[in-house]
Amino acid sequence: MGHLLNILDLSVEEIDQLIATADAIMENPEDYQNACQNKILATLFFEPSTRTRLSFESAMLGLGGRVLGFSDSSSSSARKGESVADTIAVVSAYADIIAMRHPKEGAPLIAANHTRVPIINGGDGGHWHPTQTLTDLLTIRHEKGRLEGLTIGLCGDLKFGRTVHSLIEAMSRYNGVRFVLISPQELALPALEKARYIDGKGIPCRECRSLEEAIGELDILYMTRIQRERFASEEEYQRLKDSYILTPEKMELARGDMIVMHPLPRVNEIAPLVDEDPRACYFRQAYYGRFIRMALILKLLQESGKGKAQPDKGRPHFPENALPGGVCKNPHCITTTEQGLPQRFTPAGEGEGEYRCLYCEAEYTP
Ligand code: CP
Repeated sequence: MGHLLNILDLSVEEIDQLIATADAIMENPEDYQNACQNKILATLFFEPSTRTRLSFESAMLGLGGRVLGFSDSSSSSARKGESVADTIAVVSAYADIIAMRHPKEGAPLIAANHTRVPIINGGDGGHWHPTQTLTDLLTIRHEKGRLEGLTIGLCGDLKFGRTVHSLIEAMSRYNGVRFVLISPQELALPALEKARYIDGKGIPCRECRSLEEAIGELDILYMTRIQRERFASEEEYQRLKDSYILTPEKMELARGDMIVMHPLPRVNEIAPLVDEDPRACYFRQAYYGRFIRMALILKLLQESGKGKAQPDKGRPHFPENALPGGVCKNPHCITTTEQGLPQRFTPAGEGEGEYRCLYCEAEYTP
């Protein structure tokens, strides 16, 4: 593996190794303080971030490396209309590894096809957020002692929440997992995602609208923010924004060993009083993020040193376009902004005449 675009780019065994490395770094950080001497991380954030960007930068500094980049695309030549492909082709000559975030879904795939160095997806629109998932897995391993046999309630914006999509994909590979999907109908998990990673794998799952009804059966409650920036209508956001608010009263309905996770930032879906409950582990979760990102940087740099992400070698192979003439209808897809990018579709596999956009994975029926 040369890049991390999707959590499924990593095998379960590779994730176990990353967790073991993160644990080793946490125990003896001084053993790793020069591990990336003379290496440069570029952080290219076309969309706001606190945790992902700063934990990547802190991780690289903690490994003895250096950091460059931008935290606001308006200070980069993207403002002048430069494409993702051109930006990456240039920056990959200045750095040894790139962590990027982009509002358009599929942008990291374009990056991986124009880079000389490993690409890490720090979040692309509502699509994927694999390093948040690595953070979540390390947190679960520490807080619950295992990744198998857990009932996980995902609550809030399951439609646009990229952390939810990546976490479901990751957890669907562990035995004994059960999902409870808690959302308004309008923000339910996309049907194709549910069919592919839950129903298609025979994973027990139920959907419900009420947090109070579900909270008592959970090992993990994964709260999420309603993603205002992904809504087409502000009115719709205002109507749905307070769908779920976790309070100390609702926590009384939960098991004594349930944990509350949240990728953060929160808006008002968890009352600040809940922070005092020892089951609230979202700030510990953010803490773990630095160490798993250190482990990831080490792994990708070691692999690129062995030639796995050399110019023109580590590039994903784009399959033949299965639907000539098709145009992706997802307004968040990278095809809506990237100049000269050909449309590409693959068969969805679930039915005759159904396709997915290769970049953003949105379902498409001609
Ligand atoms: N969890 C997360 O991605 O946070 P930021 O948006 O602050 O990076």
